[in-house]
Amino acid sequence: MAEKIVAKGLEGVVASETELSFIDGEQGVLLYRGYDIHDLADEASYPEALYLLWNDELPDADELSTFRSRLAENRAVGEAVQATLRALPADTPAMAALRTAVSALGNTDPEAEDNSPEANRRKALRLVARIPTVIAAFHRLREGLEPVAPDPELGHAGNFLHMLRDERPTEVEARALDTSLLLYLDHGLNASTFTCRVIASTLSDLYSAVTGGIGALKGELHGSANEAAMRMLLEIGGSEAAEDWVDEALSRMKKIMGFGHRVYRTEDPRATHLREMARELTDSLGESEWYDIARRVEETMLDRKGINCNVDFYCAPVYYTLGIPLDLYTPLFAAGRVGGWSAHVMEQHADNRLIRPRAEYVGATDRSFVPLERR
Ligand SMILES: CC(C)(COP(=O)(O)OP(=O)(O)OC[C@H]1O[C@@H](n2cnc3c(N)ncnc32)[C@H](O)[C@@H]1OP(=O)(O)O)[C@@H](O)C(=O)NCCC(=O)NCCS
Repeated sequence: MAEKIVAKGLEGVVASETELSFIDGEQGVLLYRGYDIHDLADEASYPEALYLLWNDELPDADELSTFRSRLAENRAVGEAVQATLRALPADTPAMAALRTAVSALGNTDPEAEDNSPEANRRKALRLVARIPTVIAAFHRLREGLEPVAPDPELGHAGNFLHMLRDERPTEVEARALDTSLLLYLDHGLNASTFTCRVIASTLSDLYSAVTGGIGALKGELHGSANEAAMRMLLEIGGSEAAEDWVDEALSRMKKIMGFGHRVYRTEDPRATHLREMARELTDSLGESEWYDIARRVEETMLDRKGINCNVDFYCAPVYYTLGIPLDLYTPLFAAGRVGGWSAHVMEQHADNRLIRPRAEYVGATDRSFVPLERR
């Protein structure tokens, strides 16, 4: 019998092999298929990184152009899914709406139950293409506005901003959102990706796995830290108040959202890009106060706790500056991560074994049953 180890939170447990992304938490390294995240964030686009993740090779110009076109052709969501969105109560949380809509997308996909590699690839492309459409449509409908049709002339991120605001974004805005999606694309066996792999390992389908992944991402300890971080910056209100705010929160043993990480013991390399992007964007729009507050919070956290910020922290001022409603930050994280979730589902299906760990039972073992009438 193998030795039993109880690893709370599965910390340090290696639960699967992957060829998708590599993380060195001590050195602050993140690679997608062997390529450094810094090079990809500086030089590549989200569709390019996604193609790399799914094909193990960077696309050449023709391959990328075809891949972009296929994404653009698949953006529209059908009437049934739109009807599902229209039927949601007005105050439905955005991540709950996305979870419902992804499940509904599965119900209207004739290939939903086909787990072959080819069908999984086609479904994954449709999901990546449609999730931004769902998020924008959900937002417009709750505002009493009609959804804006996707524009095939616009890129993946730029089209999302167009569908959200009914206005073409600037190149700088589209690029900032695109890079954030690229940085969110994949990250080892994080909680939502693990969820997807567990679901896929039962030989359930891609839509079920992604619906489950959205449920896991929704929590504050995972994806919704980006929204929570912005709420914190808004509450702090000014850079001069940041230090006292953090001290006070820490004295009440509160966790500061957007800080800490299970794997990184140094700077999260994704945060490096988002910090720079936040500085540039807020500067260019004359709203540098949000960057300044974030910087003071970061300095105070490093000084008091030695804890670095993670990907979600500087994502907050970036999305805020792009005019994205706060509760759509985590759905956008999902819009980026769905490429990684899909890649993991395909990897799991390609070499499957049911994921089924054990629990160490610590309850009673010697209780005598008492019939109902004598209790
Ligand atoms: C990400 C996170 C869940 C990792 O959790 P974990 O690996 O289980 O680490 P723990 O929560 O056990 O934290 C270890 C220590 O650091 C402290 N710590 C970790 N993150 C902290 C934070 N954001 N603010 C304040 N203290 C923090 C904990 O209080 C704990 O201190 P202790 O040993 O004195 O009790 C955790 O850092 C967190 O809750 N961060 C805030 C949410 C967030 O930003 N999530 C997005 C992740 S990308």
